[in-house]
Amino acid sequence: MTEIDVARLRAETRGCENVVHLNNAGASLPPAPIADHLYAYLRDEEMKGGYETADLRHDELEHFYVAAARLLNASPEEIAFVENATRAWDMAFYAFPFKSGDRILTTVAEYGSNLIAYLQQARKTGAELVVVPNDEHGQIDLEQLEALIDERVKLISISHIPTGGGLVNPAAAVGRIARKHGVPYLLDACQSAGQMRLDVEELGCDMLSVTGRKYLRGPRGTGFLYVRKNWIEKLEPPFLDQHAAELIDSETFIIRRDVRRFENWERFFAGQAALGTAIDYAMDIGLEAIQDRVFSLAATLRAGLADTPGIRVADEGLVKCGLVTFQHDRLECEEIKAAMSQKGFNMSVSNGSGTKLSFMARGLEAGLVRTSVHYFNTDDELERFLGVLRSL
Ligand SMILES: Cc1ncc(COP(=O)(O)O)c(C=O)c1O
Repeated sequence: MTEIDVARLRAETRGCENVVHLNNAGASLPPAPIADHLYAYLRDEEMKGGYETADLRHDELEHFYVAAARLLNASPEEIAFVENATRAWDMAFYAFPFKSGDRILTTVAEYGSNLIAYLQQARKTGAELVVVPNDEHGQIDLEQLEALIDERVKLISISHIPTGGGLVNPAAAVGRIARKHGVPYLLDACQSAGQMRLDVEELGCDMLSVTGRKYLRGPRGTGFLYVRKNWIEKLEPPFLDQHAAELIDSETFIIRRDVRRFENWERFFAGQAALGTAIDYAMDIGLEAIQDRVFSLAATLRAGLADTPGIRVADEGLVKCGLVTFQHDRLECEEIKAAMSQKGFNMSVSNGSGTKLSFMARGLEAGLVRTSVHYFNTDDELERFLGVLRSL
C-alpha cells in the first residue's frame, strides 16, 4: 500500500493556507490541479465558446466515464454524469414502477431527500416503506433485513455512510443478501466515494449514486450514477430530454438504450471534465491509503473529543469513518460552529433533517456538530482544533 505524501498533498491544496478544513463531508477543498483544470475549461468557454470547447475537449469529457468506472470497478458504459448525488439517485429510484402492496426496504440512518422520495412514491403508488431496524452497533441489522425479504420487496435502498455521523453501514453484506434473494439494490455512496475503496462487484449493488464535491474533492454541481448493465434498459428514467430519447415523428419517441438515458443534455461540462481529473487524483493516491488515513485521523479526533469535558461523541457503527459528530453540554451546535469559524476552523451542523429517523430515534433533534476529516488534515490541526474547542 502506498504511503500518503501529506506534505505534497497539502502543498497542492491552496485552501490549507487559509483554513483548517474539517467540513469535507460538506464540500472538500479541491486540489489545485482540479481547480486549475476547471478554471482553464471555463476560460476556454469564455474565449472560444461553450459548444466549441466541448468539441475541443471531447476526450476529457469522455475520460470522466473511464475514471468513474475505474473508481467503482465498473465499465464506462455503466456511468451517467448527473449534477449531484440526489438527482443521480432520483433517476434510478423514480424509474422503479412501484405499485400498491410493493415494499421498499431502507435503513434508520437514511438520507433525508431519499426518505422524502420514498414517502412521495408511497403516497402516489400505495407502495410501503419499511425501515429495517438497527443492530446493537447502530448499523442496519442484517438478520432483520433478511427476515423482512419476501415477494413484496421490490427494492433495497440504503445510505452507505449517512450524512449525520461516523457510521459505515455494512453495504457489501447487504448486497450479498440482496443478490441471494434477487432483489435490486440501490446504494447511496455519496459520502463514501473518495473516502473508501468501492467495488460494485463486492458491494453487489445494481445502482449507486455519487457526488463530486465531497470526498472526491471535485467541483460543486457534479455527480454520477452507476447502473449495472443488465438494469439499464429495464429502468425508464423519470425525465427524458433529446439526449436521453429521440423523437421519431409527431407521436413517437424512443429512449436511448445506453446508460446516458439517465443524463441531461445541458450540464456542467467544465465540472464533468474536472471531476474526471479529481477521480484520477484520488486513484493516484490510492483509495485504500486514503481510507486508512481518513479513518485513523477521525479516530484520533474522536479520542480527543471523548477526553474533552462537556463533550459527548455521538458516532455509531462497528466501523467508523471520517465523519465525527458530537454535542456540547452547554453550547448550542451553531454557537460552536460560529465560534470555531472565527478562529479559522470549518465544520458544519447536522440539524436532524439529513438523517431524520436516526436523530428522532436517538433524541438528537437539537442537532450535532459535524466535523469531517480528509487525508490532507494533520494531527497538528486536530490538536489545535481541540485546544480552541476546550477554550470556548
Ligand atoms: C448520504 C447522503 N446522500 C445524499 C446526499 C446528497 O448529495 P447531493 O447534495 O450531492 O445531492 C448527501 C449530502 O450530504 C448525503 O450525505
